[in-house]
Amino acid sequence: MSFNPKTIIEPFRIKSVEPIRQTTREEREVALARASFNLFKLPARDVLIDLLTDSGTGAMSSAQWAGMMRGDESYAGADSFYRFENSVRGITGLRHVIPTHQGRAAERILFGTMLKPGDIVPNNTHFDTTRANVEACGATALDIPIAEARQPGTVHPFKGSMDLEQLDRVLTTSRDKVPLVMMTVTNNSGGGQPVSLENLRAVSRRCREARVPLFLDACRFAENSWFIREREDGYHDKSPREIAGMMFAEVDGATMSAKKDGMANIGGFLAMQDDELARRCRDNLILTEGFPTYGGLAGYDLEAIAVGLEEALDEDYLRYRIRTVAYLADRLRQVGIAMVEPPGGHALYLDARAMLPHIPVLEYPAVALSCALYLEGGIRSVEIGSLMFGRQPDGTEKPAAMELVRLAFPRRVYTQSHVDYLAEAIIYVNERRDRLRGLRIRSEPPALRHFTAELEPIGGTLLA
Ligand SMILES: Cc1ncc(COP(=O)(O)O)c(C=O)c1O
Repeated sequence: MSFNPKTIIEPFRIKSVEPIRQTTREEREVALARASFNLFKLPARDVLIDLLTDSGTGAMSSAQWAGMMRGDESYAGADSFYRFENSVRGITGLRHVIPTHQGRAAERILFGTMLKPGDIVPNNTHFDTTRANVEACGATALDIPIAEARQPGTVHPFKGSMDLEQLDRVLTTSRDKVPLVMMTVTNNSGGGQPVSLENLRAVSRRCREARVPLFLDACRFAENSWFIREREDGYHDKSPREIAGMMFAEVDGATMSAKKDGMANIGGFLAMQDDELARRCRDNLILTEGFPTYGGLAGYDLEAIAVGLEEALDEDYLRYRIRTVAYLADRLRQVGIAMVEPPGGHALYLDARAMLPHIPVLEYPAVALSCALYLEGGIRSVEIGSLMFGRQPDGTEKPAAMELVRLAFPRRVYTQSHVDYLAEAIIYVNERRDRLRGLRIRSEPPALRHFTAELEPIGGTLLA
């Protein structure tokens, strides 16, 4: 019998380290007030474990750094572009590959090229920048996830999937207003939940029948591939790369933030099959991103992404990555902490509405919880709830579908002892949850308010 370990280890060793700084609770109290209870405004040096986002925060591999050294900085037609294009084409099969400085630039270019006022874009769930870019064109961003997606405690293997009946309805009643359908894998704003291949194929079939292009928001395509392999019948013996190929085979194009499963600190792309659409997108790209073979990136960034996309599909890496989040969820579940079930790929989402029923939703329970995690444990997380989504285009405020605190894991950055510390801190805050108070907004900008809004605890203190 051979050794069959239960422990899934980090599949890398550490060549370079970056110190993180311990602070006292008193120091964090001052920092929190100075940041107006908005964790985006905290200096990173005041944060011990930074789970604000998994976007662009990962550790690059030695192979990526080596790739960067051969970055070709030619303005046009750099070797680095062709290596980047090869890598993207090899994985996606999409003909036209247009680099952008990050995902939202790909969104702006795509929507700016395809949408007009009054249009409707169905998506399982729009990410905030995706929604903002759709709305900036005067169009409506329509979220149509399956019903289970809005029930945090309900376990479903593919909670990221799209509701086919709702898609049918919009394609039947408003076909002429739908220039494209989007599918976000994994569904970040819906809890980092995967989409099944079965669902993606069903959406794709409907889009083909209605002659509407289907685009993937492919930020976490590798994690989605892993979930398909683990949870969907018929794919257990397929490699993540093969499954990714099957996903991309169903779509006409993709937007991508390479800051996620591109394993890079910056970058993105827009890719598609249609020649004429690609030509128009490239014309649009030149206005703000640069020449179409660099799209706002340095040659060395293109190299990092070309290598990173392949590394994101490595089985050992994906096993460790998905297990990290599941391990934290196991620890929290043992003490009954409410979260989105099952845990997502890149992040764990605490259910603040369930944990803090005494805080009304428009007093932002998820903001209160994320501030408390910082105050007690030096942990930075992000609210995905009514602060992020509550302000409507007409200026009114409406509660979001869920009040979540997202703990997003940078790729290859933290080890198991960091996760053990996290579990301890979250459990500590949970034990004091009755003392937590809601917040009110002191000032906010007209769009994407969660990045810069200033808040204050109601009654003057976060923990009574
Ligand atoms: C699902 C999804 N789409 C789009 C984006 C936007 O990408 P970027 O931050 O690179 O502009 C993100 C970023 O977090 C995302 O999670």
